[in-house]
Amino acid sequence: MTRATIDLGELDGPILLFGGPYSNLRAMQALMTVATERGITPERMICTGDVCAYAAEAERTAQTVRALGCAVVAGNCEDSLGFNELDCGCGFEEGATCNRLSAEWFAHANNQVSEDTRLWMREMPGRAVFTHAGKRYAVIHGGAEKMNAFIWPTDPPERKAQEIALLEEAIGPIDGVVCGHSGVPFIERVESCDWINAGAIGLPGHDGDVRTSYAILDGEDVSIERLTYDHKDAALAMERVGLTAGYHNTLRTGWWPSEDSFPQEMRRGVTSIFAAE
Ligand SMILES: [Fe+2]
Repeated sequence: MTRATIDLGELDGPILLFGGPYSNLRAMQALMTVATERGITPERMICTGDVCAYAAEAERTAQTVRALGCAVVAGNCEDSLGFNELDCGCGFEEGATCNRLSAEWFAHANNQVSEDTRLWMREMPGRAVFTHAGKRYAVIHGGAEKMNAFIWPTDPPERKAQEIALLEEAIGPIDGVVCGHSGVPFIERVESCDWINAGAIGLPGHDGDVRTSYAILDGEDVSIERLTYDHKDAALAMERVGLTAGYHNTLRTGWWPSEDSFPQEMRRGVTSIFAAE
């Protein structure tokens, strides 16, 4: 199916970019507190999708995001849950650890999510555009054409340049791309364009830090920020509903169980790609 591209117009002031709430209600609530403290209204919050996934509270998280009213670009989880597909559609190969583990959380989310929420997911745009400080940005989930494409910080710049070219063919010139899907935040200058993966707020970015990530765009400045929330309680909530295949411990350790999903150089034991804080 083809999803729409929405134009959010000119956005002034700091913009909070986030992705992957992943059914982690506590993380979503913590992010909303951060936004309130920073004076960022929902019109200046943009979600890159995957509202419901790994964690315990799919429906309540969806309702919370929906009530907030921020722009949300559909992720593969919105495609899968919205259109009653059989799995999360994240794009990992058959037999990969993530593929095996996803059966548990997908069944849980699929069981919780209401028809009304599925309708909301079906109606989400596939892309958003906005302008900020004289620059034009595109918001996508994974890749320009393939929603569940993984574009890693370790991929060569040419890989990102290809995606930018595809986006520009579709929606005209852009100065920046905002995306998510992989759960790993990074900012990279690709020729004259900023590639901004805002990461995920619902699971940490596989770096041994239990805090999750979002991004703030403010004029010329863009930064990855860490989100502190009650990760221990979120992990307990997963255990209480029987989500014990492995991602519950990710909330406690900052490491994913599905390490085979990551490029070799990003796996555990290899120097973190994240700058030390
Ligand atoms: Fe995704």
